[in-house]
Amino acid sequence: MRILVTGGAGFIGSEYVRRRLESDPATRITVLDKLTYSGVEANLAPVAKHPGYTFVQGDICDPDVVDQVTAGQDAVVHFAAESHVDRSIDGAGPFVSTNVTGTQVLLDAARRHGVGRFVHVSTDEVYGSISEGSWTEAWPLAPNSPYSASKAGADLLALAYHRTHGLDVVVTRCTNNYGPYQFPEKVVPLFITNLLDGKPVPLYGDGRNMRDWLHVSDHCRGIDLVLHGGRAGEVYNIGGGTELTNHKLTGLLLDAVGAGWDRVEYVADRKGHDLRYSLDDGKIREQLGYAPQVSFTDGLAATVAWYRAHRTWWEPLKARVALR
Ligand SMILES: NC(=O)c1ccc[n+]([C@@H]2O[C@H](COP(=O)([O-])OP(=O)(O)OC[C@H]3O[C@@H](n4cnc5c(N)ncnc54)[C@H](O)[C@@H]3O)[C@@H](O)[C@H]2O)c1
Repeated sequence: MRILVTGGAGFIGSEYVRRRLESDPATRITVLDKLTYSGVEANLAPVAKHPGYTFVQGDICDPDVVDQVTAGQDAVVHFAAESHVDRSIDGAGPFVSTNVTGTQVLLDAARRHGVGRFVHVSTDEVYGSISEGSWTEAWPLAPNSPYSASKAGADLLALAYHRTHGLDVVVTRCTNNYGPYQFPEKVVPLFITNLLDGKPVPLYGDGRNMRDWLHVSDHCRGIDLVLHGGRAGEVYNIGGGTELTNHKLTGLLLDAVGAGWDRVEYVADRKGHDLRYSLDDGKIREQLGYAPQVSFTDGLAATVAWYRAHRTWWEPLKARVALR
């Protein structure tokens, strides 16, 4: 199978490319990535010599490069996005251009070239915030941040290309991912690396905000199930099954690194901070046999160990950008 993977140098995209090429030698993958601040080509070093791997540095908003790399592909797995909520609060422009316009450019190219399947990787954040119960795929979209609003726009465009043009589109909406190679601005790697450096960790508000945690390898397994078995025009929630308040998560990270609560700095809450995300992922479990395989305890311990062992990966990234 020939697959175009956008955003393949990022956290989740690179996990997808590495596991796919390592597990299926017949796969041919072209990565299209702009290498923004969060894209790291070295994330793909383990598969750089694989005969099925091609890397193209380019922007998904550029119709010419997108046209070239889409020709001849059997499928597109679309990860590329501006992905950090705090950055979208500081400035929404790149979120609208990459997440919405970039997705439209890709969808048009996929149509033109008769691509057989387009997997649009979305997020549970498009549903907004839920105080009780869990969202099914039928829940109306009510995004609250510029990031989630731009993802919702892309999500709906992708589904519209199925309904209007008959393009074979499937959409995945997953919960918060954690694991190796995550850019150290997101809460798990930011807290681990700050703690390893003896620095404080910034906890938003009162720490009551609740998220469901999904190991990145389970997310990628879910995406492959949807790529191969999902029904065109359908949405699939991908959950992790570990709901934690940020306060509880912070306690687990402090324990894992052997630090105390004196390292926690309570900071002003994020504007418009969603209180709780919770997915009902019964559909992908029942229809496609999905089940997360990595327990949160094991996954978190392995993630902390990875950051301990890969200081040379994250130190330059923290130096490269002004981090909160
Ligand atoms: N991280 C999570 O917890 C999470 C949860 C749900 C959904 N998602 C979605 O998964 C996808 C991947 O997220 P991630 O955490 O790996 O993000 P990331 O920020 O680590 O990676 C994004 C990648 O996209 C590339 N990119 C950005 N703009 C581009 C452009 N215009 N053209 C080409 N490449 C571009 C970047 O260089 C980077 O390699 C995103 O679509 C995100 O919305 C992430």
